[in-house]
Amino acid sequence: MKRLDLLAVSDMCVDLLLSGNVRPRFGQVEQLIGAYHLELGGSANIFAAQMAKLGAQAGVIGALGADPLGTFALGRLQSLGLDTGRVWVDARLQTGLGVALIEGNDRAILTFPGSLSAVGPDRLPDLASEPCRHWHIASYFLLDRLRSVWRAWLAACRRAGITTSLDPNWDPENRWRGVRELLPEVDVFLPNRAEILAIAGGTDPRMAALELSAAGPLVVVKCGADGVLAAWRGQVWEAPPLPLQSPVVDAVGAGDNFDAGFLCGRLSGWSVPNAIALGQRCAVASLASSGGFAGQLEEPSFRPAGVCWKTP
Ligand SMILES: Nc1ncnc2c1ncn2[C@@H]1O[C@H](COP(=O)(O)OP(=O)(O)OP(=O)(O)O)[C@@H](O)[C@H]1O
Ligand SMILES: [Mg+2]
Repeated sequence: MKRLDLLAVSDMCVDLLLSGNVRPRFGQVEQLIGAYHLELGGSANIFAAQMAKLGAQAGVIGALGADPLGTFALGRLQSLGLDTGRVWVDARLQTGLGVALIEGNDRAILTFPGSLSAVGPDRLPDLASEPCRHWHIASYFLLDRLRSVWRAWLAACRRAGITTSLDPNWDPENRWRGVRELLPEVDVFLPNRAEILAIAGGTDPRMAALELSAAGPLVVVKCGADGVLAAWRGQVWEAPPLPLQSPVVDAVGAGDNFDAGFLCGRLSGWSVPNAIALGQRCAVASLASSGGFAGQLEEPSFRPAGVCWKTP
């Protein structure tokens, strides 16, 4: 298989996004809603697709059920230009499904895991074959079968010259265990504000970022409408939000799209502020459309150049 710029294990699922009058009422009440949108889901898929639209050769590793949602998801992965050589169909699984009830900037999500956590350690590639330049972990808490292997895996990536990033996303069990232990092996840690406070404790994301960055990684905190802050070795960068050109349709995937823009910048040897700026352009573009893929920034000529990762 060809060497990719980026590989990530996919929290593979399909999303059904419902909006307009979506607060459910039980007691057999039938309620008409404003709109629905069926789209590929999965943080890693959104992230990899935005990387591909910025010219990276990106692939995901994941399973699909032998069902209509699985067929739909595979078609979308291919049309997004992602490498699907490590995506397989497992007839024993149902494709994962996330139903999101969207109200403005907020959403409630009902998730059926199915294929979402199907990847086990046996599906990780052989690093000796140099499968990729950069390894991203998205949705750490959802990929149950890999949680115990990530520390050794990240260390092996580092030995193989593969840079790494970790976006924890939300912990559905609200326990937040295991992330701190990975940080010494991670190059870039990408939580949002609520996530870093849950992991580090306290109420100040700046203090939390400084504390967690002391373990080694560049810590980049996505603060929603307040922009972004980053910390590394005692240095802090703060970026205000970009002004919005259009109203927010939904915030699905804003964080994943930010991650992709930021990492494309860093993989091209850009400074932290410049990488944050590209991340913010990707995030804001996706806010203006439904779901995480539709508004993604397309600059295929960008292609993250060579291996030129520089320390911040
Ligand atoms: N209302 C907004 N105005 C301007 N920028 C925004 C707004 N909301 C989000 N952003 C940009 O998008 C980035 C990522 O959004 P957010 O902080 O919601 O990430 P997240 O919570 O990880 O998202 P996700 O739900 O995709 O996991 C922010 O850091 C910011 O740059
Ligand atoms: Mg996120």
